[in-house]
Amino acid sequence: MLIQSVLAFSFLFVASYASVQDFCVADLSLPDTPSGFPCKDVKKLSVSDFVYSGLGAAGNTSNLIKAAVTPAFTAQFPGVNGLGISLARLDLAVGGVVPMHTHPGASELLVIIEGTICAGFISSANAVYFKTLYKGDIMVFPQGLLHFQINSGKGPALAFVSFGSPSPGLQITDFALFANDLPTEIVAATTFLDVAQIKKLKGVLGGSN
Ligand SMILES: *[C@@H]1O[C@H](CO)[C@@H](O)[C@H](O)[C@H]1NC(C)=O
Repeated sequence: MLIQSVLAFSFLFVASYASVQDFCVADLSLPDTPSGFPCKDVKKLSVSDFVYSGLGAAGNTSNLIKAAVTPAFTAQFPGVNGLGISLARLDLAVGGVVPMHTHPGASELLVIIEGTICAGFISSANAVYFKTLYKGDIMVFPQGLLHFQINSGKGPALAFVSFGSPSPGLQITDFALFANDLPTEIVAATTFLDVAQIKKLKGVLGGSN
C-alpha cells in the first residue's frame, strides 16, 4: 500500500513536472503560430534574453500624429513570448495624438509618467469613457475596444502601456479606412463620409483609389 502510494505520487510529480514549463523565449528565426513562437533552446539562453533596453529612449515624434509608440512585444523582446504580457513606451509631443485604434489581442493598462493625456474608449454599446489623466494616473482599456490618447497639456507627455498579450496587435481606424486601396466609393458607402473628405484623408495617409 505504501509502495503503491509512493509510486502514484511519483507518477503525479513526474506528470506535473513534464507539463510545466517556466518560459518559452521566442525563436524568431522560426515562423509564428497562433500560440506564439517556438521556444529558443534553453541551453542557448542567458539573462539577456529576459532584459530589453529599448524603452529607455524617447521615440521620434516628428510625424503626422506627433506621437511615437515604442513596443516591447515578442518581436522586439522575445522573452515575453508565451507569458501573456508586454509593454510599450508612448511619447506624445505637444499636440500629439494616438488616433482611434484597437488592440484585437489584449486589454491595455496606461500609466502616465509625465505630462497630461486625455484618454478614452468606446464600449460595444457605444458608451464613451474619457478623462484627462495626470502623472501617476492609470487607465485600463478593455480588449478590442476603440480607444485614443491625446496630449492635452502644454508640454510633451510620456506614458508606459502594458498589455495582456505578448503580441497585442494594433489597428488604427483612420489607417484601416484611408491608408490602403479600398475604393473611395466603398469607403463612402460604408462610412457615410463625403467623397472629398475621403480623398483628402487618403492623400494625407497614403491611400489610393
Ligand atoms: C525623426 O523622424 C523624422 C521624419 O522621419 C526624420 O526626418 C528625423 O531625422 C528623425 N529624427 C531622429 C532623431 O531620428
